[in-house]
Amino acid sequence: MTIETPSPIRQALVLVGGRGTRMWPLTASTPKSLLPLAGRPFLEHQVSQLGDAGVDEVVLAVGVDQVAAWEAYLASAPSGPRLSLAVEDRPLDTAGAVMAVLDRMDDRFLVLNGDVIFTTAIARFVAAAPSAGAVLALAQVPDPSAYGVVVLDDDGRVERFVEKPAPGTAPADTVNAGLYIVERRALEDFEPGPLSFERRVFPELAARKDLAGVVVDGGWLDIGTPHLYLDTHERVQADTPHLAADDAHVVGRRSGSWSYVGAGASIEAEAEVRESVVLAGATIAQGAVVRRSIVGRNAVIGAGARVIDHVIVGEDAVVGAGCELHAGIRVAPGIELGERSITVRPPR
Ligand code: GTP
Repeated sequence: MTIETPSPIRQALVLVGGRGTRMWPLTASTPKSLLPLAGRPFLEHQVSQLGDAGVDEVVLAVGVDQVAAWEAYLASAPSGPRLSLAVEDRPLDTAGAVMAVLDRMDDRFLVLNGDVIFTTAIARFVAAAPSAGAVLALAQVPDPSAYGVVVLDDDGRVERFVEKPAPGTAPADTVNAGLYIVERRALEDFEPGPLSFERRVFPELAARKDLAGVVVDGGWLDIGTPHLYLDTHERVQADTPHLAADDAHVVGRRSGSWSYVGAGASIEAEAEVRESVVLAGATIAQGAVVRRSIVGRNAVIGAGARVIDHVIVGEDAVVGAGCELHAGIRVAPGIELGERSITVRPPR
């Protein structure tokens, strides 16, 4: 008997063409996958993980309105797997984006959502994957109620999906982690155009017993929401909890279990930055407080202002001296809030 070993995977397609609405206003000017994580564009963390798994070519499926940002990034990307763009004139959804470049892909390749990285080596997932039209990387989570739950049968094939089950009712603790191995043949029968892996392709492959799942040990880190973006910093910066770019100017206090201060940013005297991301060129003026929040590029938090609890301040925005913003408030790019013009607090 001959046992066929699948050939190694050398190509990956990263889906980076979404609108990133949950990370607005940071995504108004920067594609989500180019937002910095611990000072490096998020995509660089992904490409480095893919390179470690033996991938030497990465295709980035981008939306037409973000091409300029991606071309600028590619012009200065570090060495590693070869990067190229596949541009969509209109959003094609997850599987549609892959279909559009199918003729550039090998018989078997990886597909990765643009907002996830893994705490375990991708190579382990690839090595453990059986032969199937598609293989999903599955993560085990304590509370699957916020995710798409994937139920496997005894042969490791996907039996069914349960989207966001009510707490305590989930039939399994394994959820779709946004990393797949796809075989070209699995997509060849679908019509070109918008197409979703989750809603259409995977259910159809599952019905044909052509969809497998492999539970990856460890977990995955996501930057899709402000909470996750901050939590992911905490994990990635575990060894260097208070990280600042070389030319950041930090006089004030960094507190809590981590913080990140970007290039050219300034934390002035008696200011406090706690478990927050201060992006390049931003200023946290004297006595201002920033806690579990994100301050966009070149934004200014005025003297004595308070920015607390998952607030996002957009690029070039100014939060005037003495303002208070709490609980998930988002300030649009370039907006100027006058001195003491606004106090927003959560109800007690
Ligand atoms: P939200 O608007 O905040 O939900 O973010 P998103 O637009 O990124 O959507 P979501 O996180 O659900 O998308 C998962 C992944 O698929 C992300 O990496 C997206 O960039 C990507 N994606 C979603 N829709 C498309 C699309 O139409 N084309 C391409 N190329 N990628 C897409």
